[in-house]
Amino acid sequence: MRTTVGAVAMVMLCVLMVHADVKPQRDFNLQRFAGRWYRVGLAYDSPSFVPYRDKLRASMGTITPLPNGNVNLTMWDITPAGCRSKVYQYEKTSVPGQFTYFSTRHNMVKDITVVDTNYTDYALVLKHKVFNREYTQVALYGRSQRVRTDVIQKFKAFANSHGFPRESILTPPPAGEKESCPTSASGH
Ligand SMILES: *[C@@H]1O[C@H](CO)[C@@H](O)[C@H](O)[C@H]1NC(C)=O
Ligand SMILES: *[C@@H]1O[C@H](CO)[C@@H](O)[C@H](O)[C@H]1NC(C)=O
Repeated sequence: MRTTVGAVAMVMLCVLMVHADVKPQRDFNLQRFAGRWYRVGLAYDSPSFVPYRDKLRASMGTITPLPNGNVNLTMWDITPAGCRSKVYQYEKTSVPGQFTYFSTRHNMVKDITVVDTNYTDYALVLKHKVFNREYTQVALYGRSQRVRTDVIQKFKAFANSHGFPRESILTPPPAGEKESCPTSASGH
């Protein structure tokens, strides 16, 4: 009994310690972060997601900085109805690299932290419901549909250390010619 209580206390302590140290990329530069990214890694807390995991492809997104420091993220996804885009409006906070947005799907405000990026190759982005608690998603973005394996390893280790079980950490493959979305042919 004592051991169990001790172990539980240990786990809780670890969780609290891990959760306390989410900091955005130092000297975050929004202009350098702008432009096209591919979501090449995803860790998700929702079981409703599981049926789709094998269908996922590295979807494309574009970060557009607005003059007031907010951001529009346009994500492209292939759906049964074809290629669709959705705009997420991220509002800046007083901390560079940290944003908030209103999730219409979950009907709540969420925090977005750009944890680590080198702008030219990859970006690790954490989404949470309550700041520094209740992580809901970790995403790895790449400037191309493939990123280096050491970057993938870093993403997996990060997601794991933030409480995402191994089976919820996905690395969607690049979209094939026919699946690519938006298609180069539909460039309008
Ligand atoms: C940002 O997104 C909003 C909502 O979709 C749109 O009205 C606005 O024109 C967008 N701004 C830019 C610069 O893309
Ligand atoms: C960004 O990261 C990639 C992959 O780790 C690396 O090859 C590249 O040199 C880095 N670029 C900069 C500017 O640090």
